[in-house]
Amino acid sequence: MSEQQVGPKTIVITGAARGIGLATARILATRGNRVVMSDLDGELAAAEAEKIGDRAAGFGVDVTDRDAVREHLEMVEREFGPVDVMINNAGIASASPNILEQDPKITERTIDINLKGAMNGTIEAIRLMEPRRRGQVVNVASLAGIIGVKGLAAYSASKFGLVGFTESIRLEFADKGIKLTCVMPGPVDTGMMDGTSSSPLVSMLAPEEMATGIADAVTTGKPRVSLPRSSWLLARTISVLPPAIGIRVGHWTRIDRIYTEVDPAARAAYEERISR
Ligand SMILES: NC(=O)c1ccc[n+]([C@@H]2O[C@H](COP(=O)([O-])OP(=O)(O)OC[C@H]3O[C@@H](n4cnc5c(N)ncnc54)[C@H](O)[C@@H]3O)[C@@H](O)[C@H]2O)c1
Repeated sequence: MSEQQVGPKTIVITGAARGIGLATARILATRGNRVVMSDLDGELAAAEAEKIGDRAAGFGVDVTDRDAVREHLEMVEREFGPVDVMINNAGIASASPNILEQDPKITERTIDINLKGAMNGTIEAIRLMEPRRRGQVVNVASLAGIIGVKGLAAYSASKFGLVGFTESIRLEFADKGIKLTCVMPGPVDTGMMDGTSSSPLVSMLAPEEMATGIADAVTTGKPRVSLPRSSWLLARTISVLPPAIGIRVGHWTRIDRIYTEVDPAARAAYEERISR
């Protein structure tokens, strides 16, 4: 049996300097938890943590560096106490008309950050949690982890991988008191969506709406979170259609244009940031 955790938790969030991670840190701190915000951009993470107040602290950590992730979590345990929840949120998404037109460095980086980075965080957190038989790992995947997305092949590959990894780890640690939550957002209004097209059937969430779903899962331990509900149902439906029909549905609903008909000028700053 796992110990029941009551009261405030110590929660590490990767990629917490911006977007969904930042919004999640704000909500979890407001709810009385201690949040440790890590990001590739440590200065921004520290500045945002300072704005949140005493319950937050920001650090620079590259999730692709397994040793750095381990050392970061060990530092958190020394300075702030046992890590109760690890939220692997850091991620990038580069849009390209097709995989041949994507810079191979970005293709690799997408897998390194979104899949291997989240695996690093999961493994190193569970290593600390397992002896205590208590803890939760929240992995932020995507609906692109259950359906293919035109223009986002590497991203979709990384998120399919992360969904499979998370679901498998849940089975491996089900009787060891470790909870796994797989988050599968639809489009969320962050830098990641800059300059993309829209589909009349796909609504865009505010980061705070997605963050509320993640923060609620920290309270409930829910195994899967997908918002908005309408996009989850659409993606589930497409995932079971015969591929030829799925292609047509993607075309009629304009979903296939979200990441292929992009405004390069509006997207330039985001694409430049993630390629650094
Ligand atoms: N925005 C969406 O539409 C959407 C949809 C589905 C899933 N997601 C997922 O949500 C997560 C957060 O995305 P977001 O939209 O908030 O993006 P964002 O760009 O606003 O924030 C991502 C953060 O991750 C950080 N980061 C990037 N590489 C890192 C690394 N190697 N180590 C540590 N931090 C790193 C960035 O510096 C940035 O602050 C991602 O995993 C993303 O794939 C986003």
